[in-house]
Amino acid sequence: MQGNGKTLLTGIKPTGIPHIGNFLGAIKPAVELAHSYENSFIFIADYHALNTVQDGSRLNDLSISIAATWIACGLDPTKTVLYRQSANPEVFELATILNAVTPKGWMNKAHAYKASVDANIEAGRDRDENVNMGLYTYPILMAADILLYGANVVPVGKDQVQHIEIARDIAQRFNFAYKTDILTLPSALVQEELESVPGLDGRKMSKSYDNVLPLFGTKEEWKKLINKIPTDSKSVEEPKNVEGSVLFDIYKSVATADQTAAMQSKLEAGGIGWGEVKQSLVDVMESQYGPYREKYLALMANPDEVERILKTGAEKAHALAAENIIAVRKIIGAI
Ligand code: TRP
Repeated sequence: MQGNGKTLLTGIKPTGIPHIGNFLGAIKPAVELAHSYENSFIFIADYHALNTVQDGSRLNDLSISIAATWIACGLDPTKTVLYRQSANPEVFELATILNAVTPKGWMNKAHAYKASVDANIEAGRDRDENVNMGLYTYPILMAADILLYGANVVPVGKDQVQHIEIARDIAQRFNFAYKTDILTLPSALVQEELESVPGLDGRKMSKSYDNVLPLFGTKEEWKKLINKIPTDSKSVEEPKNVEGSVLFDIYKSVATADQTAAMQSKLEAGGIGWGEVKQSLVDVMESQYGPYREKYLALMANPDEVERILKTGAEKAHALAAENIIAVRKIIGAI
């Protein structure tokens, strides 16, 4: 994939701070993928978050902390353009232009809107209760995010595939209407979770299950959480089976292959208690994620530096956005 000349782009909605499942399953592979492209763009989708975050200082804080998270996790802003969606207003102009070629019926079928309507109907409420236009037209803004920068490849989770298909369909409608091929047809690249990390209760690690280990937690916080992982009641001396052990499975997700193999032999031989394994997990997490936490905390202590990185990214992105919007304006007759 190296130097294939294609453009990769993806957006991150500024929500909370990640857990180790997010890091291993999504952030780390996305950073590696982005760096393998000649042109890559990752942006903070702050206007997509407006539908749910209606508190200015909170939205700004979230945007800064998400940017700091990705940089701390290895995103190199000199290789990948990192910016706020809202920094370049051309995207909103393109969204308005795309409104005119997007059939309303497509929005009715978009899953986020549809899920809200279905939930309202189910609960016997008015079908559009608490549904704002931002949610309804969410896929059009997303199409503008992608098409403005001519992205070919859009890495997303499974839940976003429909939105990328809609972006592609909108691009096709526009190109057909204006007899042009100016808009690049994007494709979704579904990142099957390379690694599904079990949570403290053995189910998939997920905020909605309240079973997560926060990536930037302290050793003390991790220890408290890890102590909650249930284990069998075998004594220290007894040999232990790693099969079906949630603690061992989490250890395996975090530790290197060598560390995992060594831990497995120790457990199977007997002579190590679960308490010691828990402490080892904390230590391995500290050695793996401690440096990310330090980098994250350093960035959060210096938000101006994050802001500067985002601004530099926005300027780079702007060069492309400005050129592309002028070309689109010419085609539609607005210049
Ligand atoms: N909707 C995406 C999400 O919730 C975030 C997003 C906004 C996005 N614009 C995008 C992703 C453009 C890819 C491309 O995760």
